[in-house]
Amino acid sequence: MSATADRAAEHVRLLTDTVAAVGSSLDLEEVLGQIASRVAEAMATDACFVYLYDEAAGVLELRATHGTRFDDPAHRPRMRSGEGITGVAAEQGRPVMIPGQAHLDPRFKGFPNLPEDEYESILAVPVLARDRLAGALNVRTRRPREFSSEEVALLSAIAGQVGQAIENAKLYERSQRRVAELEALAEISRSMTSSLYLDDVLRDISASTCRALRAQECAVVLDSEDGPAVAYRSGVGRAEEELIAMAARAPFAAETAAAEPLSWKQGRIGSLVVSCDAPRTWAPEELSLLRTVAHQGAAAVESARSALRGLLAQEIHHRVKNNLQTVASLLRLQLRSAGGPLAEKALRESVNRICSIAEVHDLLTSSRVDGVDCAGLVGRLQAMLGTGVPERPARAQLQPVPLSGDRATALALVFCELHSNAVEHGAGAVGAELRRDGGDVVLVVTDEGGGPAAGASDGLGLTIARTLVRDQLAGTLELVADGGGKAVARFPAES
Ligand SMILES: Nc1ncnc2c1ncn2[C@@H]1O[C@H](COP(=O)(O)OP(=O)(O)O)[C@@H](O)[C@H]1O
Ligand SMILES: [Mg+2]
Repeated sequence: MSATADRAAEHVRLLTDTVAAVGSSLDLEEVLGQIASRVAEAMATDACFVYLYDEAAGVLELRATHGTRFDDPAHRPRMRSGEGITGVAAEQGRPVMIPGQAHLDPRFKGFPNLPEDEYESILAVPVLARDRLAGALNVRTRRPREFSSEEVALLSAIAGQVGQAIENAKLYERSQRRVAELEALAEISRSMTSSLYLDDVLRDISASTCRALRAQECAVVLDSEDGPAVAYRSGVGRAEEELIAMAARAPFAAETAAAEPLSWKQGRIGSLVVSCDAPRTWAPEELSLLRTVAHQGAAAVESARSALRGLLAQEIHHRVKNNLQTVASLLRLQLRSAGGPLAEKALRESVNRICSIAEVHDLLTSSRVDGVDCAGLVGRLQAMLGTGVPERPARAQLQPVPLSGDRATALALVFCELHSNAVEHGAGAVGAELRRDGGDVVLVVTDEGGGPAAGASDGLGLTIARTLVRDQLAGTLELVADGGGKAVARFPAES
């Protein structure tokens, strides 16, 4: 091999190694750090500086360095595009190289917290992602160095590829923020479940009990995961611990106090406690009144709780759906610049999975009950997953099957994988069947191709589907070549 061919092969290797290392993380700081050190290594330079472009502000900001320690993150060097040697490269969209005494160049811009005059040479290139400026990077050497045109091409090629890794990390950061938002929302809903309407209900219960029984004090003690607590009290007299202790003894009637359990559907949700300043005897009518108030109070507490839970659940499902759709559209954007067919397949499948989960949340948003009708779900999924493949007719035979949100999500993902496989690996019409079979639910996805080859092994899709059927649905998944491709998931209707 000639020396030129050797060098070219070496450069291709440096390019692929660098890009692979840089693309191995989704954490933006880590990606930028990796870029700095890997590029310096690939180019055999003393330093590498990586700048990110803030499009809104039109400013390049130093985000990672290799060779020079920079630990003043509150005062990161910033320059406008067109300012400084690297800014010129960014603005003009082409490499700028100065072999020696770079800091004497009229375009040079110094920063007090960045010792740059120790470097003789600089080679700066813009970083683009989808044809837009995403940042810039430069390499430096302490001794003068004339970078060869192949080296300039190598650094430009690396910069062209790392743009995508930077975009991916930013995308990930944005979706992480969405997850944090969802978690905050769930937290709020947890704390809200115990207030709002419920407070009104509790106030009514205790006020009317006091009046009806001519008592001085009435407390509603509610059981929760953290044990019993006084949820509402009218009047102050007894210590909280005392009220809780009396609640635990309900039902009872003593000289200065009486208590009745709050029961709902055979379960106990708390107690109603009344107490008086002076000893008294309770008339049978008074005790039966207390029982009635407790009975109705329990129903009121439960319905306030469940109304609130229902409203909040709907709101949360709605937001979850919206967030999932945002994530899916971010990924779809990325599809346009996917690096090759494998990345494209992975992204497309991720989009389908996310949209399948979004369908479940959309159905949960519109339903008043806590479940999902899976016939409707599978029908929607078939329509969604079938768009874009009009040459493959769809057949459906779907019986109503209600499932809880969790199990419906599992079913949606399983269907998504089986349907994708029928489209991708099978041929002809794609059929979906959902039916009850005794105590079981059966989901069948068919196509008119040859079915799985004898030695076909599971990829990610089938691994996901099998795991979900087994762990979330407690059932089985079988693939058969039965005059065409046929996948059968069977699981008990009740969890
Ligand atoms: N309906 C089908 N027709 C033919 N082959 C199938 C069908 N479904 C699955 N397969 C085979 O099973 C393999 C694994 O599928 P999967 O785990 O979804 O991975 P992938 O779809 O990414 O290849 C496929 O590559 C294919 O060979
Ligand atoms: Mg697949």
